[in-house]
Amino acid sequence: MAALHDSSNSSIVVLVLMIISLAMASNFYQDVDITWGDGRAKVLNGGNLVTLSLDRGSGSGFQSKNEYLYGKFDMQIKLVSGNSAGTVTAYYLKSRGSTWDELDFEFLGNLSGDPYTIHTNVYTNGKGDREQQFYLWFDPTSDFHTFYVDGRPIREFKNLESMGVPYPKTQVMRLYSSLWNADDWATRGGLVKTDWTQAPFTASVKNFNADACAWSNGASTCGSNFSSSKPSWFSQELDLSGQQQLKYVQKNYMVYNYCTDTKRFPQGLPRECTPCQMGWNTRFRHKFKILREIDLIVE
Ligand SMILES: *[C@@H]1O[C@H](CO)[C@@H](O)[C@H](O)[C@H]1NC(C)=O
Ligand SMILES: *[C@@H]1O[C@H](CO)[C@@H](O)[C@H](O)[C@H]1NC(C)=O
Repeated sequence: MAALHDSSNSSIVVLVLMIISLAMASNFYQDVDITWGDGRAKVLNGGNLVTLSLDRGSGSGFQSKNEYLYGKFDMQIKLVSGNSAGTVTAYYLKSRGSTWDELDFEFLGNLSGDPYTIHTNVYTNGKGDREQQFYLWFDPTSDFHTFYVDGRPIREFKNLESMGVPYPKTQVMRLYSSLWNADDWATRGGLVKTDWTQAPFTASVKNFNADACAWSNGASTCGSNFSSSKPSWFSQELDLSGQQQLKYVQKNYMVYNYCTDTKRFPQGLPRECTPCQMGWNTRFRHKFKILREIDLIVE
């Protein structure tokens, strides 16, 4: 509690943000709009829980009411259990327009007993092709798991603007989550189809928390002086143990990395993939200065 007595501006900002986020935590009625699925997505438990459902007719999804420039998000997701082959549960941040920025986490279902895959991608200025995939090291369907920015990092996307790689830091993004059928590609490249006799498939999300600067009427809710008094999550970096965790996950669970797919890029790998950027001790982490550090933390 000593920090509360610290008179520096940054502690005050942090404190205020914490209060706001506590007040706003977990109320899906306030924070999101169900956008599709014709009644298949539902806000329940007084706003603490959203269930997403998929059947032959349609999937379903929601989006945040706010757009965010910077921040840190967490929410707990429980994926489709049993035979989830062909289904995709997605969680992503995306800005508008034709030169959009986007950070994707898609959970690709599988047959019972076979591992779920997390498919990640990063778009900057409308260009993606930066996929990395990982197996999950736990059963994501047995309980809720937290995906936030502080636990176990799986991927970093460094700011390499100096090398001419655009970095997603100026376009406001909205958060989206959905469950849909993708059996043309999701499981074993589309070989395993969705088993509709198991429908409806259900995934759920709870405890959404945005520790973030929302964007409203052309201004950030963090105020114009934000850059001089940053909250702690703004400048968060991977510490040594975070780097070790990242290395461990990438070494043991990575299934696909676009940066090693030389066949796909006959003209040469993307610039951010050059060996000196890929070493384990470099921060290949999505450090979206402010809000968009996207380490997917799974606990
Ligand atoms: C599903 O399980 C199979 C067999 O273990 C594996 O090859 C595949 O990568 C898994 N994930 C997906 C999305 O196909
Ligand atoms: C921002 O900071 C400057 C200098 O510290 C100060 O003069 C100004 O009043 C501040 N603006 C707001 C909106 O707090």
